[in-house]
Amino acid sequence: MNGKQAAGYLAAEWVKDGMTVGLGTGSTAYFTIEKLGERVAEGLKITAIATSEASEELALKYNIPLLKASEVDKLDIAIDGADELDSQLNLIKGGGAALLREKLVALHSDQFIVVADGSKVVDQLGAFKLPIEVVPFCYEWTLHTLRESYPVPFEVRMKGQDIVVTDNGNYIIDASFGRIESPQQLADELKMITGVVDHGLFIGIAAKAVVGYEDGRTEIIE
Ligand code: 5RP
Repeated sequence: MNGKQAAGYLAAEWVKDGMTVGLGTGSTAYFTIEKLGERVAEGLKITAIATSEASEELALKYNIPLLKASEVDKLDIAIDGADELDSQLNLIKGGGAALLREKLVALHSDQFIVVADGSKVVDQLGAFKLPIEVVPFCYEWTLHTLRESYPVPFEVRMKGQDIVVTDNGNYIIDASFGRIESPQQLADELKMITGVVDHGLFIGIAAKAVVGYEDGRTEIIE
């Protein structure tokens, strides 16, 4: 068992009968979905909302019943990965380009649980490039505004020759801040820029993190 699996599986055990669950995206959330699928096959009764088309597909594969947002006001729990997390449970997310749905689901859950391996824990956020989701219309202007506002490198996320398009039809700009001294301030500033839909800073949202290690040990941060 690797760290991602250890963390993903443990968090899946906290899901109880009758809960509505937010299903995260990525290789750690994968293990949570897999374990939930096994538990559903054994009789666990849950409903879920997925944070990406990939996770929705996985949920369908495991026969996890999915809901529409119109069918539920709030989720009981959401479980998702992170690209970086600090000791205050502030996060960078969006490495998998799913940050917008992930943030919506996290904010509408009573409890947002992070699952990650030990490599994701940092003293200060920012070594991982911060994903910023922008609307495609005139995205060059949004990029220009970002470059004028912050003296750090920004790149439009590409896959080969093509711009990556999110499940919401937007683009991702990755920002190399290096170290983010005031995550809350940066989060608020980025949200104010027209053209920016949202960004991967999740500040004060997570209730708890399960960190898994190569030897199968897990540590809880709360
Ligand atoms: C996707 C995310 C993922 O949760 C994040 O990238 C972590 O992924 P992984 O568990 O594969 O390391 O934010 O947008």
